[in-house]
Amino acid sequence: MDFRNRDVVSIKDFSKSEMDYILRYAKKMIPYARGERHADVMHGKILASLFFEPSTRTRLSFECAMNRLGGRVIGFADPGATSQRKGESLADTIRMADAYSDIIVIRHPQEGSARLAAEFAASPILNAGDGAGRHPTQCLLDMFTIVMEKKRIKGNRIVLLGDLKYGRTVHSLAYALSLFGAELVFVSPESLRMPKEVIEECREFGVDPVSTSNLERAIRDADVLYVTRIQKERFPDAAEYNRVVGTYRIDADLLRHAREDLIIMHPLPRVTEIDPEVDKTPHAVYFKQAFNGVPVRMALLSLIAGGRKI
Ligand code: CP
Repeated sequence: MDFRNRDVVSIKDFSKSEMDYILRYAKKMIPYARGERHADVMHGKILASLFFEPSTRTRLSFECAMNRLGGRVIGFADPGATSQRKGESLADTIRMADAYSDIIVIRHPQEGSARLAAEFAASPILNAGDGAGRHPTQCLLDMFTIVMEKKRIKGNRIVLLGDLKYGRTVHSLAYALSLFGAELVFVSPESLRMPKEVIEECREFGVDPVSTSNLERAIRDADVLYVTRIQKERFPDAAEYNRVVGTYRIDADLLRHAREDLIIMHPLPRVTEIDPEVDKTPHAVYFKQAFNGVPVRMALLSLIAGGRKI
């Protein structure tokens, strides 16, 4: 299987067997991600980390992954401190990062920006989130977390909750989970339903997702509850946001309806949708999930731009 120099703009850039391979390789990376073992497979390579939008996990875990593999990182987390302030185009910014690095990670508020970056860069582009579009490396680490916690994806009943309309993580995830044979339940306010085209894609893999607003009923027989934040920054209209914010909250009272082995995931950041009391329960795996970003991104960096494999 050859991943060298490939762009990762969408999870659909990978076949099922390639995703399987990445997940297995990421498992091997865990001791390296924890710093217990060392392998300089990115020695001499430079990652350009271009974040035009705020990020904690994606940026830091990519940078951690590159450092753990012996590579170096350049870039910015504040586009206001770049020549974009002087009117430089995204295409020219990408051309410059391409000249200074071997692999580029980009997060940008505009849907399609990572695809555009891939057109202007010879180096591989890794999409770290393009507006309400795609977030493929989040999707891989979410799948990795389910495999680590539940052994497999197939046959698990997975509830995707929250902002299913604008949430970029749930679109990629619904596609990938269907490909791997999960059962899907979509829970959201009426106005934030999963887009029809995503549901159609699930059906192409023989999965017929249930859509509902009733969370209490949906979690009764769920194996995985994947919670998302209602993303204020994606709403074109503040009134629409105010109508739906706070619709769902995961707390001890709700979890009385859940199975003992339910795991709760969240791409984070969370705001009010999960009571901090839930953090101490065995259901909560969202901080482990965030750590899993490191081995998964190490696997990708090493497969795409590394000198040799571990
Ligand atoms: N999950 C995620 O993308 O988190 P950040 O926005 O902090 O990178």
